Amino acid sequence: MAESSKKHFYITTPIYYVNDVPHIGHSYTTIIADALARFKKLAGEEVFFLTGTDEHGQKVERAASEKGLQPIELADKVVDRYKKLWKDLNISYDFFIRTTEPFHEKGVQKVFHKLKDKGDIYKGIYKGWYCISDEYFLPEDVPLEEGDYKICPDCGRKAGIVSEECYFFKLSAYQERLLDFYQKNPTFVRPPSRMNEVVSFVRQGLKDLSITRTTVKWGIPVPGDPDHTIYVWFDALHNYLTGIGYDRDENLFQKYWPANVHLIGKDILRFHAIFWPAFLMAADFSLPQTVFGHGWWLRDETKMSKSKGNILDPYLILKTFGADPLRYFVLREIPIGLDGNFSHEGFIHRVNSDLANDLGNLIQRTLTMIQNYFDGQIEDVSEEEEIDRKLRQDFEKTKERVFQLYEEYALSRALEEIWTYINSVNKYLAENEPWNIAKDRNRKKRLGRILLQTASAIRSIVYFLFPVMPESMAKAWDLLGEEKPIRDEPFSGLRFDSFKAGQKVKPPVPLFPRIALKDFLKEEDIQPDQGSKEEKMEYVTFEEFKKMDLRVGEITAAEKVEGTEKLIKLEVDIGTEKRTMVAGIADVYTAEDLVGKKLAVIINLKPAVIRGIESQGMILAAEIEGKASLSFFDPDVPPGAKVV
Ligand code: MSP
Repeated sequence: MAESSKKHFYITTPIYYVNDVPHIGHSYTTIIADALARFKKLAGEEVFFLTGTDEHGQKVERAASEKGLQPIELADKVVDRYKKLWKDLNISYDFFIRTTEPFHEKGVQKVFHKLKDKGDIYKGIYKGWYCISDEYFLPEDVPLEEGDYKICPDCGRKAGIVSEECYFFKLSAYQERLLDFYQKNPTFVRPPSRMNEVVSFVRQGLKDLSITRTTVKWGIPVPGDPDHTIYVWFDALHNYLTGIGYDRDENLFQKYWPANVHLIGKDILRFHAIFWPAFLMAADFSLPQTVFGHGWWLRDETKMSKSKGNILDPYLILKTFGADPLRYFVLREIPIGLDGNFSHEGFIHRVNSDLANDLGNLIQRTLTMIQNYFDGQIEDVSEEEEIDRKLRQDFEKTKERVFQLYEEYALSRALEEIWTYINSVNKYLAENEPWNIAKDRNRKKRLGRILLQTASAIRSIVYFLFPVMPESMAKAWDLLGEEKPIRDEPFSGLRFDSFKAGQKVKPPVPLFPRIALKDFLKEEDIQPDQGSKEEKMEYVTFEEFKKMDLRVGEITAAEKVEGTEKLIKLEVDIGTEKRTMVAGIADVYTAEDLVGKKLAVIINLKPAVIRGIESQGMILAAEIEGKASLSFFDPDVPPGAKVV
């Protein structure tokens, strides 16, 4: 596609206040934006993804002085935290804007100046109830509390009366134009419930908006009247223009403005859906396509926020589980727009059931079978049968649905759709039982067809999931033997047949280890007393432990290794295949004791040759004075089940 004919897609997150360190709530907006940006790139569009920090205003000024810092020193520190977090979460933003950058300040002053010249900004006196925390004057209809004070309806904090000379923006003059605009653009605010909220607010009548402060020094001075500082929200909203080149890089600006979507939390809807379009109308800029208000992550049913002391540090999850499970969880768990309660149990369930069982196992056992039965490369395959065609048809349907749902920003539903497909692929394997077909040499081509079909389906699943889990899906893509990166394959070009016979796959590596509740708590748990025995213990990290693939294995055959006292050669069924393992237990156990028994085996131990036999794993046993003692699972535990 020629550069110029490509569609452009400009997506933004809110810019985050630097008085607070990032938590899961902030990460949520940015993860949604990243998944959408990545999808749009796959869809062949030219994408610009903007995020950044909101650094001016009273809130930041106060937080800095409480810490004995200059506001810019605090900002610098918090910006580093944000940038590091975005890197660790694999956020592919194109530009990080800071409102303290001179180009931004200049751009804001330029718009201010223009509106003042036009008469949309004028000087007057404002007296009203002001919430310092949210940096805004309360609407007049907020009732007085007993004791003559008002409570901010958004954050629940006490507001104070402020009376000052200031500049006003003629918001009231835009009421009708805004209502007209909403009517002509019903998807300007999404989801629709939020649109209704905005329309009814505007219908109640808009008052002119005070957009400068004399009491706040930390901000952008009004051009030509430096005793006045531009209100932090007027300043901040314009980042969406300056971040894309306004007054700095005209080509870039022309290319991407207006934005396709401003992604925001529902708490800041009014600023984005009422004030912002009014400012833009006044300054003759085109209006963004959509303001998408997502819900909140709650803990104990209240919004996660620093002031409530109930925030969840993303690193608690990132450090132990990595970025992808977290990205998947927040996008899958709640449809964008609704609130969700963050619980460790919910996270564990998603990771174990969706990622480790449904997806991870599917990839792992398919690659293992291709490795074991075809040395990594399927060659000849039989004709497609009805059941094989069904998988291909399901792919076509899934591709269309997933594309559509991504286009609608319905990420949770897109993931549901992908999981329906994953389940049908798992069912396909269960019905076709390739591990049994493998026992019949005459059915090699049929075996090839089944695994080819499964690998083709997996390739598409990996592709569909890439925007949500870029790191592990890029790994899986590589394991499938793909040479060009995922991002080079356009969505429209994705074909079931792109995985062809002859493609060499790599031996699998575990992508999503199962997790347990204690993994969350291990930080606190591993704190041995001073001088205790454990202190001398040589610990392995959980990461190291997780590398071991422990499974239930069923002993299907056993024979003593000739010329030895203790060695026995075992054939062990590990669910996807049978392995040979040599164990030093013949002095205690006979073949009859062992055949049909199920026990724990480690299956990713480097193979070793013992007495000329390659041992492809190891059974686990207790050792008592040099003698082995085995522990067996119940007969109904299936071979291949993970041991954790
Ligand atoms: N600086 C303003 C935005 C200016 S945009 C021109 C601001 N910053 S903030 O840091 O307080 O919050 C930014 C965004 O973080 C919220 O709109 C929301 O997107 C997200 N969240 C903060 N807490 C949240 C949750 N508990 N849950 C989900 N998202 C929330 O507002």
